[in-house]
Amino acid sequence: MSGYAWRSTVSRALSVFKSQTTVTRNYGSVIKTITLIPGDGIGPEISSAVMKIFDAAKVPVHWEERNVTAIKGPGGKWMIPPEAKESMDKSKIGLKGPLKTPIAAGHPSMNLLLRKTFDLYANVRPCVSIEGYKTAYSDVDLVTIRENTEGEYSGIEHVIVDGVVQSIKLITEDASRRIAEFAFEYARSNQRSTVTAVHKANIMRMSDGLFLKKCREVAENYKDIKFTEMYLDTVCLNMVQEPTQFDVLVMPNLYGDILSDLCAGLIGGLGVTPSGNIGANGVAIFESVHGTAPDIAGKDLANPTALLLSAVMMLRHMGLHEQSRKIQTACYDTIQDKKVVTKDLGGNAKCSEFTDEICRRVRDL
Ligand SMILES: NC(=O)c1ccc[n+]([C@@H]2O[C@H](COP(=O)([O-])OP(=O)(O)OC[C@H]3O[C@@H](n4cnc5c(N)ncnc54)[C@H](O)[C@@H]3O)[C@@H](O)[C@H]2O)c1
Repeated sequence: MSGYAWRSTVSRALSVFKSQTTVTRNYGSVIKTITLIPGDGIGPEISSAVMKIFDAAKVPVHWEERNVTAIKGPGGKWMIPPEAKESMDKSKIGLKGPLKTPIAAGHPSMNLLLRKTFDLYANVRPCVSIEGYKTAYSDVDLVTIRENTEGEYSGIEHVIVDGVVQSIKLITEDASRRIAEFAFEYARSNQRSTVTAVHKANIMRMSDGLFLKKCREVAENYKDIKFTEMYLDTVCLNMVQEPTQFDVLVMPNLYGDILSDLCAGLIGGLGVTPSGNIGANGVAIFESVHGTAPDIAGKDLANPTALLLSAVMMLRHMGLHEQSRKIQTACYDTIQDKKVVTKDLGGNAKCSEFTDEICRRVRDL
């Protein structure tokens, strides 16, 4: 499959909430292996919840569980364990819980290492209001697409002289074009009308200027999609005033990191926001975007919704539409019903009780 066609397929698959477009990728009833990275803190609890719900929905998958910790490879280079890499290279699809990133641990963030290892260049986060889960906003329905590999997170930092450090923001033509194409393909495949490039090219004229230039060029090939450009600060202001005006937003790494969390806040927080990371070589890792929640880890209090909805995105990516629809419906219905929901969703249920309720509903669908 050409790079273009592949991107198109993936874009369609990532439309968790808005459309139910069919994906050409078809695994039929063949049992597909998924690399599961349970992660740290609440990671194992919410991963077990997802596996239980998948069982209830009779999803034809086999989980290959792998731990991810930073190890030093030849030449002292940090890498993920070879077993995890081999599993991902083979399965091409991963589901990942949160990974702790100790400050000053001496190794890079595991999430960053995973992104680099598999060239996961696009982070896609659909933020859609959940019926029955009241927040300050309703009818939010937008998608943030974040360039995941360079920008402010290139990790190029050094001391110039004592007391002066420098961090380099790397923006390349190739990565900017690649993410812009992904965003427009996503919009087209998901019946979205507008792509907004978010930038600060008024200040960072060269770096954000290049990013914006590539977005403009790519926009020329997608006349059916409206293209707008906005300064990051204006987007933030408008986002909290009237988020329904936004559709698909594409941006460099740091802006995407911050803005995607802000958008998650509009629909109820990181506990209910799914996410997918798409790589250049057909690899895709779906993940919950919240942290390891060490304060509630091991207490059966975690909300597994974010990982579950990420798993729903993953199922669409695999072409398993029937099961993804069932699981999503059961999850939304459980939240809307409000009787058996976790504390962060305004209830008193344990993670296991919430999970069992979703399983019950999945079986009834
Ligand atoms: N994607 C990731 O792997 C990821 C993302 C963010 C933070 N982290 C790591 O997680 C660790 C803890 O970070 P933090 O405390 O800043 O953020 P956090 O997201 O772990 O916790 C913030 C608050 O949200 C709550 N919370 C988070 N997820 C929840 C869930 N699913 N259900 C119910 N409540 C939930 C926690 O209990 C806590 O009160 C750090 O090591 C950090 O580096 C990892």
